[in-house]
Amino acid sequence: MALVPKIVERLRTKGVEVVVESGAGLGALIPDELYTAAGATIGDPWSADVVAKVNPPTADEIGKLRRGSTLIGFLAPRTSPQTIEALRAAGVRAFAMEAIPRISRAQSMDALSSQANVAGYKAVLLAAEKSTRFFPMLTTAAGTVKPASALVLGVGVAGLQALATAKRLGARTTGYDVRPEVADQVRSLGAQWLDLGIDAAGEGGYARELTDDEQAQQQKRLEEAITGFDVVITTALVPGRKAPTLVTATAVEGMRPGSVVVDLAGEAGGNCELTEPGEVVVKHDVTIASPLNLPATMPEHASELYARNVSALLELMLDKSGALAPDWDDEVLAKSCVTRSEGEGA
Ligand code: NAI
Repeated sequence: MALVPKIVERLRTKGVEVVVESGAGLGALIPDELYTAAGATIGDPWSADVVAKVNPPTADEIGKLRRGSTLIGFLAPRTSPQTIEALRAAGVRAFAMEAIPRISRAQSMDALSSQANVAGYKAVLLAAEKSTRFFPMLTTAAGTVKPASALVLGVGVAGLQALATAKRLGARTTGYDVRPEVADQVRSLGAQWLDLGIDAAGEGGYARELTDDEQAQQQKRLEEAITGFDVVITTALVPGRKAPTLVTATAVEGMRPGSVVVDLAGEAGGNCELTEPGEVVVKHDVTIASPLNLPATMPEHASELYARNVSALLELMLDKSGALAPDWDDEVLAKSCVTRSEGEGA
């Protein structure tokens, strides 16, 4: 859900009128009455000056948007250029949450990060649920059980949250990434750093795609390393590319029966060769889960965080009276805006 009652209240104090579609909050267990109590009206949101959504609009929804209105949401500009084209043709000014620059000033608007935190947390719970072993060390009258060992491949926002969560559950944790600057962050979470000697730091803090040679080398080294882990959580992505294959079929075959792989890169094809996006499969006695939208499994907190991101972006465009007045010299607005009319700013 793109707005929660607390954020409606906040927007009302900024002079913004808020209209919520009837039943829109039910997926996040928020009834219409809580929105009205917060100062919203229940009605048709499609004719508003600004429409906030979570997912890209359907063709039908684009048809309902007013020419000259503003849309804010995850719009998949890299993977769904036809949506952006349709919004442009409909005369809608659109801001893609994915395109907000990853700079300090924009952290409060960074929905990729807020949702990645939810996904990283939930991936560990899923792994713990599918695992045949305890995560923590257990000392019982019947003897001591060793803690599970968890490896996180790709340590961006989701990976860091996965490491932190696995640690809280008592696992021994290890992180790996192709951006060496992540090593200190991994260690600060009490995890080991797995160094495979490949440096692929790219632009804007993201990783670059590996060369074929580097990828072959990486897969071979990971095949050796992975055998020792009970749980592998993968989150490796390169913007706009197919997800890199980090866990080969041979690596899965080498894992102990009962081990678990949770692949968070399923939407981009997956980091594990045996991943079936959206499915939980068992191969070589190893469970491989590739959930596609983990934030949707925690709708309350995922919505709360997303609504804060949306309102922070919206507030950046408002003047003192609550009217829209985007400053196109602002890097955050200029970069996140994926369609606007000709002659509108830079
Ligand atoms: P992401 O979701 O695009 O990718 C996840 C991780 O996979 C990245 O750490 C990436 O280096 C890694 N990866 C890619 N290819 C790999 C491979 N072949 N092998 C192993 N690992 C591989 O990343 P996310 O979470 O979106 O973060 C991207 C960057 O943005 C990071 O540098 C992060 O620190 C930065 N960031 C900055 C913020 C700020 O300053 N406001 C806020 C959030 C993120």
